[in-house]
Amino acid sequence: MAEKKRKILVTSALPYANGAIHIGHLVEYIQTDIWVRFERLQGHEVIYLCGDDAHGTPIMLRARQEGIAPEQFIERMNREHQDDFAHFDISFDEYYSTHSPENEALCRRFYQRLREGGHIVERAIEQFFDPVEKIFLPDRFIKGACPNCRAPDQYGDSCEVCGKHYDPTELINPKSAISGAVPARKVSSHFFLRLENFRPRLRELVRGGMVDTSVANKLEEWFAGELKDWDITRDAPFFGFPLLDSDSRREKFFYNWFDAPIGYLAALAHRLSRTNPALSGGEGAENLWQSPELEIRHFIGKDIVYFHALFWPAMLLGAGLRPPAKLCVHGHLTIHGGKMSKSRGTLISARQYAAYLDPQWLRYYFATRLAASPTDIDLNFADFRGRINSELVGKLANLISRAAPMLVRLFDSQTGVPVVGALPLLKEFRDAAPDIAAGYEELDFAGVTRRICALADKANKFVEDQAPWALVKSKIEEARGVLTAALECGRILTIYLKPILPRFAQKVERCLNVPALTWSDAQSSMPSHRINAFEHLVERIEERRIQAMLDENNPGAARAAEMPVADILPRDEKIEPPAPICTLDQFNAVDLRVARVIAAEPIAQADKLVRLVLDAGPLGQRTVLAGVKKAYTVEQLVGRLVIFCANLAPRKMKFGVSEGMILASGPGGVDIFLLSVDASASPGQRVH
Ligand code: 2FM
Ligand code: ZN
Repeated sequence: MAEKKRKILVTSALPYANGAIHIGHLVEYIQTDIWVRFERLQGHEVIYLCGDDAHGTPIMLRARQEGIAPEQFIERMNREHQDDFAHFDISFDEYYSTHSPENEALCRRFYQRLREGGHIVERAIEQFFDPVEKIFLPDRFIKGACPNCRAPDQYGDSCEVCGKHYDPTELINPKSAISGAVPARKVSSHFFLRLENFRPRLRELVRGGMVDTSVANKLEEWFAGELKDWDITRDAPFFGFPLLDSDSRREKFFYNWFDAPIGYLAALAHRLSRTNPALSGGEGAENLWQSPELEIRHFIGKDIVYFHALFWPAMLLGAGLRPPAKLCVHGHLTIHGGKMSKSRGTLISARQYAAYLDPQWLRYYFATRLAASPTDIDLNFADFRGRINSELVGKLANLISRAAPMLVRLFDSQTGVPVVGALPLLKEFRDAAPDIAAGYEELDFAGVTRRICALADKANKFVEDQAPWALVKSKIEEARGVLTAALECGRILTIYLKPILPRFAQKVERCLNVPALTWSDAQSSMPSHRINAFEHLVERIEERRIQAMLDENNPGAARAAEMPVADILPRDEKIEPPAPICTLDQFNAVDLRVARVIAAEPIAQADKLVRLVLDAGPLGQRTVLAGVKKAYTVEQLVGRLVIFCANLAPRKMKFGVSEGMILASGPGGVDIFLLSVDASASPGQRVH
């Protein structure tokens, strides 16, 4: 039965207009875009909205620094952001800005309704004020020593050394981060949203599936205490919307976190004014928002759950509007296991990445690391290169890049009928569609790519076994049938990959001479026809390109990240002197874990080495270069449980970085024996 056509409104968090988009941001936009493209491919109607979060003190100060008006500054940033997102194929239907007439009108409407509903209270508070700059200082613009551990130079909200959260007024020797002046304390009157008024409804939402269980559990901790009133106003000077409220005795502005989520609705209003003028204006957007068949989903990072699971639904409920159906929460990006950092040269902007590396690679890599849970994602450049070269180039592109040029050259570009021997394989490819679709739907993109790679392995093996390059000499039609089957497998894989790799899919469509592929096309066969000249689908990554990108930030930094590691190269034949004594503590420090080999690629230029991708469960994935080429075939390795040393420092080797060592014994060559592991053991489990 055909699935009912869904109508889905999707947003990604609105990036601040005070800085460039970096690859940490891209995790979210790529994740959202993959989901959106998948839903569209299924035939559902999706409106994907985003825009710049353009208000607030940091933006006002940046513009001031540049000597331009904030409006001019945010306009430039908006263009830059859109340009960056376009490089990564993020397919927004609307990219707007919170600094828009629609947003201003909607903000006032929200505020009015919240007041009328008795959800706003006014209270005087004491804040730090910069006597030189004459502005109230946001927490991040006050620095001083931590009241807990006395670490110097900490921000006004929390200590980066001991992790303690505090009030800026508790800092020891506070200074303004803008002027360096000692801030004064000043009292002013603010407006607060009474979150407690919404407690029962918010709790219901959190328990009722708006967020996944792990996030819901975290939110339960917040419900354990009082939901504090939330300050939704700021004092002048401030770049934002003035309240223009008759009760306000002084000049007040909406806090940028108040108008930011309303910006989702403003983007919708703007979209409607362009596509459906009859529905234009804030009211049209509100009406559409309210329509029961519309599913509303926000994709966000785990750091802004509080805003989206508590403040925003409270604002919506108070304004008589529906809360979102689902918050899709992702973790943060780390690089080589650490936080992205300017000083370590790992803060890589989208622009810088795109200048050196192919955006498709990052889309694919992030997909292989993204699951539904909000765990952090690590970008390890050795793993990145290994995966792109072995999976994307070596397995996925390989089918079409081998078969298409042969068909063009030897069969005058004319495909035939898949050989009978390929039919079970093709059936398996087609039957995988519901599982892969479920993986996309549930945001388990890592599972999706694993499944697709496993199919590709089978198809590549089929082509290897059939050897059409040899068949062509004796059984020419059979060779055509094998190549046609390979193309057919490649076409189906391309459909499954299309949400992740839209550009790759476009090239395949051009090469195969077929119209834009849809999800259901996986179930039909490509008729026998003429294909087009083959064009290269995706390049291999050369290490020097990654190096050049990293060197731009901080020459030498990346090399420092490539630390030494061992693999299991067989020992030399010569007798070695005994090694220095190792203490029991040193021996016990070796962290041995179970892992499953999920990919294995013999390194063509090396006699003994195979590049293994290990799944170590909660420890994530590791790429290990192991000297088992002569002893084990790829088929014997993939799927096998092994024991590996998980805390060995990564080591740069000639063919890439190895991130661990798998355990084996034997004299070498074909006689190397991997330690066997009980089949009931699970990846990540410790071994003693
Ligand atoms: O955390 C951030 O980057 C915010 N600019 C996100 C705003 S999302 C929404 F509320 F607009
Ligand atoms: Zn501290």
